[in-house]
Amino acid sequence: MRSALLIALGLAIGILGTAFAISALHQRTPLPKAVMTVMAYHMSQLEHSVKAQQCDAAAIRTNLERLQSAALDIPGAFKGAEDPFMQASNQLQGALKDAVAAAPTACPALATALQPVDNACDNCHKRFR
Ligand code: HEC
Repeated sequence: MRSALLIALGLAIGILGTAFAISALHQRTPLPKAVMTVMAYHMSQLEHSVKAQQCDAAAIRTNLERLQSAALDIPGAFKGAEDPFMQASNQLQGALKDAVAAAPTACPALATALQPVDNACDNCHKRFR
């Protein structure tokens, strides 16, 4: 009886400890949110220029490259994340690589290039955010 109680207590402490460790892991640095915020900034710049029909080739290039380089920090910012998360991160990097390579210089081409990028953001958020 006594040992059963002790085992139950040990389990409860273990579970609590794990929960604390996980939450500490999530809040350890502001980096995850910072990476997302930087990506959202450049994404909104690009989407805004499509909406306003003011697509400047140099500005597009800068924003796409900044987006791409910020996305490279996702694995470091979310260290220890599970495989499907890393695959979602790779999907975004692939979409950004294609978008940068497409080098859109006008609004319609930019809108087309952004679609897979947007899908990659949504795909990860739906499952992990
Ligand atoms: C591999 C997964 C993944 C991808 C890809 C991803 N995100 Fe996120 N995003 C997350 C997670 C997880 C959070 C929640 C982070 C937190 O609360 O600490 C988040 C949160 C955010 C937030 C809210 C930040 C805050 O301050 O709470 C924004 C904005 C955001 N993402 C934008 C984007 C944009 C834009 C893209 C695409 C260019 C993108 N994300 C791609 C996983 C991802």
